[in-house]
Amino acid sequence: MVEEISLRPELPSTQRRGFLAKLVALGAWIVAYLAPVGAAVRSFFAPARQKGQGAAEFTRVAPLDSLPEDGTPKKFPILAQRRDAWTVYPNEPIGQVFLRRVGKDQVVAFQAKCPHMGCGISYMEEKQSDQVLKKFYCPCHKANFDLEGRRTDAVSESPRDMDTLDEVKIEDGVVYVRFKNFRTGTAAKEEEV
Ligand code: FES
Repeated sequence: MVEEISLRPELPSTQRRGFLAKLVALGAWIVAYLAPVGAAVRSFFAPARQKGQGAAEFTRVAPLDSLPEDGTPKKFPILAQRRDAWTVYPNEPIGQVFLRRVGKDQVVAFQAKCPHMGCGISYMEEKQSDQVLKKFYCPCHKANFDLEGRRTDAVSESPRDMDTLDEVKIEDGVVYVRFKNFRTGTAAKEEEV
């Protein structure tokens, strides 16, 4: 006859209760001390998650008198603070705009990114017999726009007209724009956030 030997000797019930109480205390200690450590670690790595911040405020673009009075558009870079991982770049190009002077103290602004797939739109002057046609043109899929940013092709690759930047101000002879990016490939103009 073989005698069965238990390898796990049973603990007396008072010892078991003591062990459980220690386990609960250890759990409470972990929650109390490690939770703030986790928060600190998260906040340490937070900058790495914030990439390519846009210009939420008005950005200085150009002196008013640098814009041709006849309404010919000029393209300007938008410089703003950009944060990448742990580095802050104070004056990084984050986009481009066209400015057009349409009155003595009136300027309109367009996002220079094509609403189709985001290529950079150019300004072009095309000689047609005895006159010059001024227009915006996207070289990627040959979309044409007039100086108001409206599509001029019978069938355009661009799903909408050029995106205007509606918040423009002039202060002390300088043009400021609140720069925004918009989703590409959609008929509706929707801001990218
Ligand atoms: S990206 Fe401009 S027409 Fe396609």
